[in-house]
Amino acid sequence: ADQFDYDVLVIGAGPGGYVAAIRAAQLGLKTACAESRETLGGTCLNVGCIPSKALLHASEYFEAAAGGKMAAMGIKVKPELDLATMQGQRVDAVKGLTGGVEFLFRKNKVDWLKGLATFKDAHSVEVAGKTVTAKNIVIATGSSVTPLPGVAVDNAKGVIVDSTGALELDKVPGHLVVIGGGVIGLELGSVWRRLGAKVTVVEYLDQILPGMDSDVRKEANKIFRKQGIEFRLETKVTGATVKGKKATLTLEPAAGGEAEKLEADVVLVAIGRRANTEGLGLDKIGLALNQRGQIETDHDFATKVPGVWAIGDVIPGPMLAHKAEDEGIAVAENIAGLTGIVNHDVIPSVVYTQPEIAGVGLTEEAAKAKGSVKVGKFPMLANSRAKTNHEPDGFVKVIADAETDRVLGVWIVASVAGTMIAQAAQAMEFGATSEDIAYTCHAHPTHSEAVKEAAMAVLGKPIHV
Ligand code: FAD
Ligand code: NAI
Repeated sequence: ADQFDYDVLVIGAGPGGYVAAIRAAQLGLKTACAESRETLGGTCLNVGCIPSKALLHASEYFEAAAGGKMAAMGIKVKPELDLATMQGQRVDAVKGLTGGVEFLFRKNKVDWLKGLATFKDAHSVEVAGKTVTAKNIVIATGSSVTPLPGVAVDNAKGVIVDSTGALELDKVPGHLVVIGGGVIGLELGSVWRRLGAKVTVVEYLDQILPGMDSDVRKEANKIFRKQGIEFRLETKVTGATVKGKKATLTLEPAAGGEAEKLEADVVLVAIGRRANTEGLGLDKIGLALNQRGQIETDHDFATKVPGVWAIGDVIPGPMLAHKAEDEGIAVAENIAGLTGIVNHDVIPSVVYTQPEIAGVGLTEEAAKAKGSVKVGKFPMLANSRAKTNHEPDGFVKVIADAETDRVLGVWIVASVAGTMIAQAAQAMEFGATSEDIAYTCHAHPTHSEAVKEAAMAVLGKPIHV
């Protein structure tokens, strides 16, 4: 890095940025990572994946005890909610993991530049009043909550909150209204419902979980309604007023029509996230954004400006931690002159509700739009392990090319769908056919046998239905 301070400077230490920095250092490149937060790990570790899963896991136990699932197995308990301890273990989980990334930075000799980075030119940024130069700069600044006009978030006040505020509530709300029937709304809505809140989800579209397979969306809607979540589909929120500790929302049919009021103790705004590019000084390097405010790259994650790369939530594609991580590894390998590739056709996505909802590859609708397909479905109710564990909800659906039998997509609603989807992703990465899955020996009794049976159903011959 003769003429530069560093070979690689990464902006942002989320799952994209910190992984890119560690891999670059492992490949022998002199590496720094700028992060303005107090702790490393980005959205995912600090206010996203990890704290939400800490609360999902704990609230699932609470509901199993409170809601009769444990009693059905002969374990009678009367649970008492100690929310302060539950929140404490969330904070501990985050602390442990963000500290772990700091340890990995030291171990791999990645310099953490504390502060907000701004471009001065394509090879230099200013961080905390200092100019730092690098041969390669990777933008991994992530995303933040999309604001909803007329519904101002104030996490400190705790009435209208975003996901960060909804993770930190110190009291179970009487009525939680979630705006947006997407991943955040359903996960955090589930947490507070399990702990005793009445939850209403207001969704603009005619169904929750846009982007997922339509069978899955329908099944998820049915299951969440059974659990007590109320859905107001095809409805928009046009305004909100806060008086003391209560909010009143104005709702209208999405297509327009008569307005109505809805009262809430807490309102969670979760209508999506947008790329973080403000204040980066992209104008200084002549880098334009696309129509959605994202940075475009080529297949190698290089931007149009030589020496400047971008990965993670700030570029197009699903806003997922594992997608960002894989891009982080790939960009470091490309910078080092190796071949770093991410197969964007095979990125699993998981909603960590109960049951979990997972998918990889094409939806049935998207696959049909491309050609002729065969579909195999297997209900979890017919899976011996799920049935034994009192987890009968859901199904596995395998979509294969009608001609070649190659697997195009797999969708799972099941208690452990997030774990089961890994084998589907692996099979698809290896170009498997449904027959390959059907003739792979699966351990019994496991939930994963349902994947094998759904693959057998593609071929027309499952055993257990
Ligand atoms: P980020 O994690 O957003 O990190 C970017 C970092 O860059 C931030 O720390 C920011 O402070 C820093 N930064 C920005 N600009 C600058 C600058 N100019 N200078 C210095 N630093 C800067 N994904 C999953 O896969 N699974 C999940 O279960 C999951 N759960 C989620 C739950 C919630 C509530 C939320 C909000 C998100 C969740 N996500 C989940 C999405 C996941 O968090 C993101 O996809 C992931 O964090 C993106 O990683 P990233 O590295 O691109 O950006
Ligand atoms: P999302 O894109 O998943 O869902 C937003 C929902 O809000 C959509 O259903 C959309 O139709 C609806 N919507 C948009 N505008 C609206 C309006 N004005 N009124 C009512 N509804 C409206 O976004 P979400 O839930 O905010 O999550 C953001 C991102 O974080 C997601 O892209 C997801 O990838 C990531 N994430 C991932 C998780 C996981 O992998 N388990 C968990 C949480 C978040």
